[in-house]
Amino acid sequence: MLAVSCVSQSADSPLDGLRVGDLADPEPRDGWVRVDVRACALNHHDLWSLKGVGLAADRLPMILGCDGAGTLDDGTEVVIHSVIGDPDAAGGDETLDPRRTILSELHPGTLAEQVLVPARNVVPKPASLSWEEAACVPVAFLTAYRMLTTRSGLDGPGNVLVQGAGGGVASAAIILAKALGHTVYCAARDEAKRKRALSIGADHVVPTGERLPEKMDVVIETVGAATWEHSLRALRPGGRIVVSGATSGAAPSADLNRVFFLQLSVVGSTMGTRGELESMLSVLDATGARPVIDDVRPLSDARTSFERLESGEVFGKLVLTV
Ligand SMILES: NC(=O)c1ccc[n+]([C@@H]2O[C@H](COP(=O)([O-])OP(=O)(O)OC[C@H]3O[C@@H](n4cnc5c(N)ncnc54)[C@H](OP(=O)(O)O)[C@@H]3O)[C@@H](O)[C@H]2O)c1
Repeated sequence: MLAVSCVSQSADSPLDGLRVGDLADPEPRDGWVRVDVRACALNHHDLWSLKGVGLAADRLPMILGCDGAGTLDDGTEVVIHSVIGDPDAAGGDETLDPRRTILSELHPGTLAEQVLVPARNVVPKPASLSWEEAACVPVAFLTAYRMLTTRSGLDGPGNVLVQGAGGGVASAAIILAKALGHTVYCAARDEAKRKRALSIGADHVVPTGERLPEKMDVVIETVGAATWEHSLRALRPGGRIVVSGATSGAAPSADLNRVFFLQLSVVGSTMGTRGELESMLSVLDATGARPVIDDVRPLSDARTSFERLESGEVFGKLVLTV
């Protein structure tokens, strides 16, 4: 089968370790199901793997990819749940299982014609979503959904600031926050991306770092060092930053004076549960909200998509069809 693998890692030239080529089909495994992938999508996570972050060198070569949708052997159309963990090990939440892993870290990922996953790691694909749309949701949309629901502390409409506009998680957060009834602010670096943010549901946009006209209940943070100070300044007393990524750096000043004086909360969030994936798909199905797709190309042309991901000149998801 055709697959996209990480064969070596480099922080400076990550794409040197990318290989697109034929591999053996996966061997059947008890308790696991085979998905014939119809579409898959890239995440920043795949670039981190090529840089040597989150993917141990002794696991190479590794098929990349955490996002995908396809059909089971009996024809059932499914979305893949990428978090492999035992819910019983952590109070019903597999993301808290200390041994949990994400596809492409320990087990081969979704950027392939076929992928094997535990039987619980597929959920029905709503008929209203195309293959390309369904392939976008297992990572970015699930992550954004958990950030906005389970981890946000919001129990009604609120003011939500999303840092970044074009990123996979950031664009998902804008779309889902709007679908969930919040007032959505977005801070993005360039004018074109701010305009796009408005077109996908943001109510207000500002240049990165600029003062907002009102205080936020929650900030959705994936950018990290480049926006952290702004995120802290944007919150009302008692507000909360939910952080799931740190693309621009993971060690900004914590500004503890502001954190304790304004009684702010900083809450981490990672991926989501199978139940949250199903709930999020129901929201998309019911509201008509959909992922923003920047580009669709065949799996065989994956290198072009990785080049675009690395350039940062992307708005929404990069999808590969099989
Ligand atoms: N914890 C989890 O479960 C989880 C899940 C998914 C992703 N993540 C992490 O979250 C991060 C984002 O992932 P992604 O797939 O959404 O990545 P992505 O598509 O590459 O997006 C990167 C985002 O970062 C922004 N950005 C990058 N450098 C910036 C800078 N110097 N100043 C301002 N903004 C900057 C971009 O903003 P513009 O739009 O303004 O360019 C864009 O919104 C990654 O670090 C990833 O590893 C974590």
